[in-house]
Amino acid sequence: MKITVFSAQSYDRQFLNEANQAEPRPYDVELIYQQATLSLQTAALAQGSEAICVFVNDRLDAPVLEALARLGVRGILLRCAGFNNVDIDTAASLGLFVARVPAYSPEAVAEHTIALIMTLNRHTHRAYNRVREGNFMLDGLLGMTMRGKTVGIVGTGKIGRATARILRGFGCDVLGCDPLPSPEFKRLGDMVDLQPLLEQSDIVTLHCPLVEDNRHMINADSLLLMKAGAMLINTSRGGLIDTNAAISALKTRHLGALGIDVYEQESALFFHDRSSDIIDDDVFQRLMTFPNVLVTGHQGFFTTEAMREISAVTFQNLHCLAEGVPCANAVVGS
Ligand code: NAI
Repeated sequence: MKITVFSAQSYDRQFLNEANQAEPRPYDVELIYQQATLSLQTAALAQGSEAICVFVNDRLDAPVLEALARLGVRGILLRCAGFNNVDIDTAASLGLFVARVPAYSPEAVAEHTIALIMTLNRHTHRAYNRVREGNFMLDGLLGMTMRGKTVGIVGTGKIGRATARILRGFGCDVLGCDPLPSPEFKRLGDMVDLQPLLEQSDIVTLHCPLVEDNRHMINADSLLLMKAGAMLINTSRGGLIDTNAAISALKTRHLGALGIDVYEQESALFFHDRSSDIIDDDVFQRLMTFPNVLVTGHQGFFTTEAMREISAVTFQNLHCLAEGVPCANAVVGS
């Protein structure tokens, strides 16, 4: 069975090859790695493959899915949890099987969230450069003690809860908002609506999936509801924040700090080496000018443990496709 792997980086090869060699090997799987991101222009690379394996910035809209179906592709294996990049209705109408990796070390993303919070809070990104240049002044590096601060968690699913558990260890008070409150979260903090969460939190961190209803849930109005000087963190999906509104709130100093591992227009930048290019995304470049903004390139998931889990579950999903057996991770198809 041939599988075309889009957006393949060296680490994808390493971990997928490892999973492909794991015993038992009920059938021969040939992985064809393509560095290209999936789009209408690159879909033809899947010629001859029964399934494709894709990541967060691969595009699976109706024209791409139709092109893939015409090539004979039957299955789409997502190496991620979120599936906001897939046109689910079209996939279903074409009879495609789509499966995801629902959880791969939620702690990995939660720990990265904490890394963003603590870097912005204690300015370690600035201290690192300053000390290397022989400047040992402390001005501009003042932080806050985390103990007793209120952190609002938007989305109290697996990652939100893992983040809450760590924050409780710091001595923070935790608020959560979620249309489907989890009993486990209630032991960690109080469930409230989004508005009081924004009003009361010193730090707001986003852990809900991106769907059409919550695109730009953090916009000019919701930013105004936040405490003056509060910190906003997003390790979920870029589209949850209206980036221009966040820039305006940073310029007025109302937003105290912004830490993002995801960005609305990330597909043109993230997972590519653009260091020799002129980056013509002016919004992104404006973000880069703020000392109180920290951007990482969608690396929240990136630990050895999570990569092993992603690869192993991708092969389990492939097994369901090959055998036609029910798949707990299916988003479309059984
Ligand atoms: P999950 O499905 O366990 O939890 C998501 C929670 O968000 C659910 O409880 C759901 O009810 C809630 N929710 C949905 N809409 C909401 C809204 N409008 N307001 C508040 N809550 C809402 O998902 P998990 O595993 O915790 O992942 C969360 C998100 O993290 C994923 O959707 C994905 O976008 C992102 N992610 C980011 C990674 C990274 O590397 N930065 C890696 C993995 C996931």
